Amino acid sequence: MHGSVILLGPPGAGKGTQATRLSEVSGRIILSTGDLLRASVAADTELGRAAKGYMDAGELVPDGLILGLIEAHLSTLDTDQGILFDGFPRTIPQAEALTALCHIEMVLCIEVIDDAIVERIVGRRMDPQTGEIYHVIHKPPPVSIVGRLIQRRDDTEETVRTRLSTYHEQTAPLVDHFSSLGLLRCVDGGQNIDQVHVDLLAAMKEESR
Ligand code: AP5
Repeated sequence: MHGSVILLGPPGAGKGTQATRLSEVSGRIILSTGDLLRASVAADTELGRAAKGYMDAGELVPDGLILGLIEAHLSTLDTDQGILFDGFPRTIPQAEALTALCHIEMVLCIEVIDDAIVERIVGRRMDPQTGEIYHVIHKPPPVSIVGRLIQRRDDTEETVRTRLSTYHEQTAPLVDHFSSLGLLRCVDGGQNIDQVHVDLLAAMKEESR
């Protein structure tokens, strides 16, 4: 039975990009609170209606709503395969709640400086059919699918600056929190996508030795 792995890092650090690749090689199941929330907004559920304003503003959705979502979703998954959390936890109360719910094996922190983030976020494009994440420069999409790509509602320059402030105020304290528990492994997310993947795999192998 595998424990859980958490991908931590600022908006645009590459958590979603790397989660897909790590899941392919490790068989772990990705649980992205951002993706679950966007699906709830698209389906116009009660949760989606409650979360939408916070997401559009670049603020965190309240812990109570997030923990309800996590508990409901975790109960549907085969957790023996191991879970790869993308974008959760994001506050100390969320981290404490997760510790009570499952065994956390390690926390992989993808470090990227703020100056690189805005360019990454504004250039991001998503494929609604496959969920694949592209970037107009760093990971250009095939020409044949360009017409169907979408931009996230919160991927504006103004909102990303709020998301960065939110990250520094409410999520960055998790770095010290998990470090003090001996669970933190950091990689340089300013490198290209392939090299970040190699470094994350090395950090995971190091941990399981
Ligand atoms: P969420 O969807 O989690 O957004 P985020 O944390 O802001 O992270 P992103 O998805 O923007 O970035 P990423 O790190 O996944 O980067 P990506 O791989 O796409 O959350 C959205 C909102 O939902 C939040 O603001 C909040 O309101 C709410 N929410 C979600 N979870 C919550 C929680 N737990 N509690 C409370 N509220 C919550 O890459 C970005 C771009 O860069 C792409 O174009 C990619 O191609 C490119 N790229 C990736 N890696 C590289 C590289 N190494 N070099 C160059 N380009 C790269």
